[in-house]
Amino acid sequence: MGAVAILCGAGCRESHDDTPIYLDKSQPMEKRVEDALSRMTLEEKVALLHAQSKFSSAGVPRLGIPEVWCTDGPHGIRPEVLWDEWDQAKWTNDSCTAFPALTCLAATWNPGLSDLYGQSIGEEARYREKDVLLGPGVNIYRLPLNGRNFEYMGEDPYLASRMVVPYIHGVQRNGVAACVKHFALNNQETRRNSVNVVVDDRALYEIYLPAFKAAVQEGGAWAVMGSYNRYKGEHCCHNSYLLNDILKRDWGFDGVVISDWGGVHDTRQAAANGLDMEFGTWTDGLRDGASNAYDNYYLAQPYLKLLREGKADMATLDDKARRVLRLIFRTAMNTDKPFGSLNSPEHIAAARRIAGEGMVLLKNDGDVLPLDTEKCRTILVVGENAIKMMTVGGGSSSLKVRHEYTPLEGIEAAVGDDVKVVYERGYVGDVTGSYNGVETGQDLADNRSEKRLIADAVAAARKADAVIFVGGLNKSGHQDCEGADRKQLGLPYGQDKVIEALAEANPNLAVVIVSGNAVAMPWIDRVPAVVEAWYSGSEAGNALADVIFGKVNPSGKLPFTFPVRLEDNAAIAMGEYPGGASVEYREGIFVGYRWHDTRHIEPLFAFGHGLSYTTFEIGNARIDRTTLTDGGTIRLSVEVTNTGKRAGAEVVQLYIGDDSSSLPRPVKELKGFEKVALNPGETRTVTFDITPEALQFYDDTRGQWVAEKGTFTAYVGAASDDIRASVGFDLE
Ligand code: GLC
Repeated sequence: MGAVAILCGAGCRESHDDTPIYLDKSQPMEKRVEDALSRMTLEEKVALLHAQSKFSSAGVPRLGIPEVWCTDGPHGIRPEVLWDEWDQAKWTNDSCTAFPALTCLAATWNPGLSDLYGQSIGEEARYREKDVLLGPGVNIYRLPLNGRNFEYMGEDPYLASRMVVPYIHGVQRNGVAACVKHFALNNQETRRNSVNVVVDDRALYEIYLPAFKAAVQEGGAWAVMGSYNRYKGEHCCHNSYLLNDILKRDWGFDGVVISDWGGVHDTRQAAANGLDMEFGTWTDGLRDGASNAYDNYYLAQPYLKLLREGKADMATLDDKARRVLRLIFRTAMNTDKPFGSLNSPEHIAAARRIAGEGMVLLKNDGDVLPLDTEKCRTILVVGENAIKMMTVGGGSSSLKVRHEYTPLEGIEAAVGDDVKVVYERGYVGDVTGSYNGVETGQDLADNRSEKRLIADAVAAARKADAVIFVGGLNKSGHQDCEGADRKQLGLPYGQDKVIEALAEANPNLAVVIVSGNAVAMPWIDRVPAVVEAWYSGSEAGNALADVIFGKVNPSGKLPFTFPVRLEDNAAIAMGEYPGGASVEYREGIFVGYRWHDTRHIEPLFAFGHGLSYTTFEIGNARIDRTTLTDGGTIRLSVEVTNTGKRAGAEVVQLYIGDDSSSLPRPVKELKGFEKVALNPGETRTVTFDITPEALQFYDDTRGQWVAEKGTFTAYVGAASDDIRASVGFDLE
């Protein structure tokens, strides 16, 4: 607010610039924070630190400092709930665009799309006047049973780090805080509210923390959400080691630590261990009597009492309040923020583009795909996931979308009138269509027997020119869903039998897996084409059709390993999962392809794997020197050529192996990637600058990152199990 002209008697029109500093946006942020803080009472400071409703916290009404409004979730803006209930507020203006799940975004290996994603979802949050987006999630994919893997960015800390940073930039450009979650070690849903994670420091620093560190130090995240589980015996929402020592002291985080909803269990810990805002504590919400339940929050009256009795220090209170004020100045009081937009054509286009670029062509023998509608006049689509809406369900990331194109709708919309699309259910999975009061409106009931369903699908398959089976998992409990883990690697609802029968009936079969996790494929040798389509949001069906019919040439790469059997996964093989009161990550740093490489276990599909409708050649890797010195750089160059007949994009991946480390290390680790779009016959030189930092590991005996002298190998390829070139060099 600029100078304020006030009438000072006798009609004086002289302007007196008495705008308080905290309201004067020309003032430096920290000055505004201090000024606001100096004007606040003890009670007002404490009121900033806890919820006043399900998703909001108080501002300072007396000073004109607004409330903070939070919203789920990482894939879209959650529909409004009641003041103090999870139930729907039944607004009619809060349908949104559902963007693809973050596994799909990660599978694009395209940081530019991550920025587009963040920008778009940030615009929707801004338009809905939300100050904090409760996302993105970057918990590492430790095993394929974790119910919430679909919300995260895969098994590799480098990929997750590169992909989370632009998302945050995009969101925060809208004056909306990204709230990176769940910090930290929330890698299973089983006993998520209490399980104490036991993990060695190397795995903590090398695997589980890097994406959060990148989110804070490169992404500049304004908020971080603590996780439900415990680490070193303390709940992560008030965990001194994670929040005070690592996040705030070591990483220099100047934002707000927000609890997960119901993640706070103790006032003294909440006061002293780095928590700044408490949400969702399991009171019963509004309660009759002296005060409502929010006054009973740990950081409410109980904290005020400790402060008044001198049992909690004021300096810590002021630090919390400063952080919340900084959040408010960056968001609600940021007068330069844009106005956002909701369900715009641009958002729909972004959702479709990210979905299409994230889908992974896992197998395509005989070039079954893309389908040629000149030859395929009758296309049979089979499977419940071809018709079941997937934007509803799965927990807090569930959405109410303006419209969701299902795979069947997308395929039907993509073909002309001269192609007949037939649908058969094939199997019945979960016919429910509602979550938290959001109804899909679909009636998926089908009382045919399993035998009948398969017989009907087989009969139709025999008459079709091509068959597309769309199955996988869904957002139901014990599938890809918050609050519970999967119970098996295999597909549920008898899908394997359907796929086997279809493969028998018609060899021109493509299987599309809709999931956020790896699944077993016992039928893989009898199915020529397989696509991982993820949960790809509002435009799922259109994006899938784009890939099926070749309008989009798939370029996605797996962000996590598909093991053949569950026992091939490190956490399962080494134990411990799901553990009891504690769960020990005995596999340490050997997560995902790090495990498969070291133990020579052939995956079903490897981390980084993904095919194209064209082919690429990756030439020899050349380096400009064979010795890397401290502070120096080795430039690695490699040619990539499109040797096929149509334009496409390849993700050139750089892995580095330490051939002479004193401590155990994986065979190789992802240290660089670049997605290159090429026309047929076109060649591009891709360069990577290798620095000593890329060679480091966390030496837990010294508590620091070290790069040991010795020989290293740079591997360049199109997947972790598809290395096309390698070259050795030394670190002096
Ligand atoms: C949930 C989730 C968290 C979500 C929050 C609010 O339990 O763990 O990701 O943002 O509560 O819904």
